Amino acid sequence: DPAVDQPDNDKIKDLEQFMEDSSGALMNTNTGVKINDDQNSLKAGERGASLLEDFILREKITHFDHERIPERVVHARGSGAHGVFKLYEPLPEYTKAQFLNDTSIETPVFVRFSTVAGSRGSTDLARDVRGFAVKFYTQEGNFDLVGNNMPVFFIQDAMKFPDLVHAVKPEPDNEIPQAASAHDTFWDFISVMPESTHMIMWLMSDRAIPRSYRMMEGFGVHTFRLVNAEGKSCFVKFHWKPLLGVHSVAWDEAQNISGKDPDFHRRDLWDAIESGNFPEWELGLQIVPEEDEFKFDFDLLDPTKIIPEELVPVRRVGKLTLNRNPENFFAETEQAAFHIGHVVPGIDFTNDPLLQGRLFSYTDTQLIRLGGPNFQEIPINRPIVPVHNNQRDGFMRQTINRGKVSYGPNSIGDNFPLQAKVSEGGFASYPERIDARKVRARSKSFLDHFSQAKLFFNSQSEPEKNHMIDAFSFELGKVQSNAVRQRMLGILSLVDKRLASEVGFALRLAIPEIPEQPMNRSIPADADPADYEPVV
Ligand code: HEM
Repeated sequence: DPAVDQPDNDKIKDLEQFMEDSSGALMNTNTGVKINDDQNSLKAGERGASLLEDFILREKITHFDHERIPERVVHARGSGAHGVFKLYEPLPEYTKAQFLNDTSIETPVFVRFSTVAGSRGSTDLARDVRGFAVKFYTQEGNFDLVGNNMPVFFIQDAMKFPDLVHAVKPEPDNEIPQAASAHDTFWDFISVMPESTHMIMWLMSDRAIPRSYRMMEGFGVHTFRLVNAEGKSCFVKFHWKPLLGVHSVAWDEAQNISGKDPDFHRRDLWDAIESGNFPEWELGLQIVPEEDEFKFDFDLLDPTKIIPEELVPVRRVGKLTLNRNPENFFAETEQAAFHIGHVVPGIDFTNDPLLQGRLFSYTDTQLIRLGGPNFQEIPINRPIVPVHNNQRDGFMRQTINRGKVSYGPNSIGDNFPLQAKVSEGGFASYPERIDARKVRARSKSFLDHFSQAKLFFNSQSEPEKNHMIDAFSFELGKVQSNAVRQRMLGILSLVDKRLASEVGFALRLAIPEIPEQPMNRSIPADADPADYEPVV
């Protein structure tokens, strides 16, 4: 039993019906037949051979043979917990989402923290981005905020994501290194992808080696939209602010911990919750009125940019508390399927090309990872509201839909007949006006790759800057190609001369001269397609 009370919520109550408790029970097979001996197979005589008819042996081994499912293609290593979200004050001026308007509701949540590059069994203390995925089980359906502990990303377009991940993951010939960015393919990719410069500053900072999941910030990264009951929209960036503050370990500590306890973050989260030290974060919103879309010297749709908090302060609107550990890692943490496309009325997307690609990717990968189109019926993924639609069948279907009508429109059934109430209060996409030519291109407003990288480096204290210099020196020190190291030094010199020269000194390499990248700081709302940079 847990040492302290780990509270129930509506989702935990929903999960109860699926829970199994074998204590004091007698063992039986999956068909419910009592088992008289679970240790000896059926044999022709005491010394065998074993008999094929032994259905008890066959069932036990067959099930075991099929226990594994694919790990997540990224973010394979993770830990989860249940909790609740409580709103401080209603936000009707921005959004009609009920869980952001009704302060009397405690919205159940399930959160999964993760590293990105390593496999399921890799160390928690890798120098890596951390995933911070939150599923809100709202009374209007599930809303997933699938973020990271860094506010920007490596690339500006989802088209590049498979390339990024192929470069980040262990190298394909020898599967080295596990869960580390210190290798050729990673730095090769970064060195020819200047848009990753801002993210690489975060990745080489102390943010990449958190002390605890409880002491990390979280960010939705992309600019999203909020939409209120009058249909008025504003832009929003989502933040999670840990009430314990942001803390990291030093790299030497990280390596020590990885050797002694690769489950360090998982254990920390579990133990904190078991002992009643429930981790807490405040949800923060940076709101930008629609009319201010072009007010900044960066593009709100560019996921390699933050909105500096001096320009738009973060308003704290509610609190997330993780107060209950999962009962079963596989059933809950491993089978959880997060997706930024899971939104509720009042929350909507923008045209950020990274966001748009993610909208495709998550369901697509979950279809194979979780075995087909019915993974939303898995207990951890089910919304707390009933599901009614005409979707049917498929592998592992659990729901027994009544009636003979599973189509619409129809005139003979009770299921959504002709005047079906399909749209009353339903999700209606924000009717953003789009009038453009199709182009395979990137906006010029996405081309300033260095200003915010500089901003980040300059925001660091002296010890933090030194940690970054050490991180670049260590990581690039593992790279075999001098061409890659030199290209990286060239990029670093565009961020900060001292950073580049100290890393260059550590690597015994001179800093090459490379030209500044072209920059175009803003693009007018009525921009002509001719203003778009063709892909070369
Ligand atoms: C998984 C965050 C970009 C594809 C995840 C997870 C997080 C995350 C937190 C782990 C979810 C979990 O705990 O189960 C982000 C962030 C991104 C980003 C913050 C950029 C801002 C992308 C892009 C793609 C992508 C651009 C593809 C185009 C995936 C896939 C998974 C994943 C396929 C595995 C999902 C699963 O198997 O359930 N991402 N991601 N991500 N992400 Fe992303």
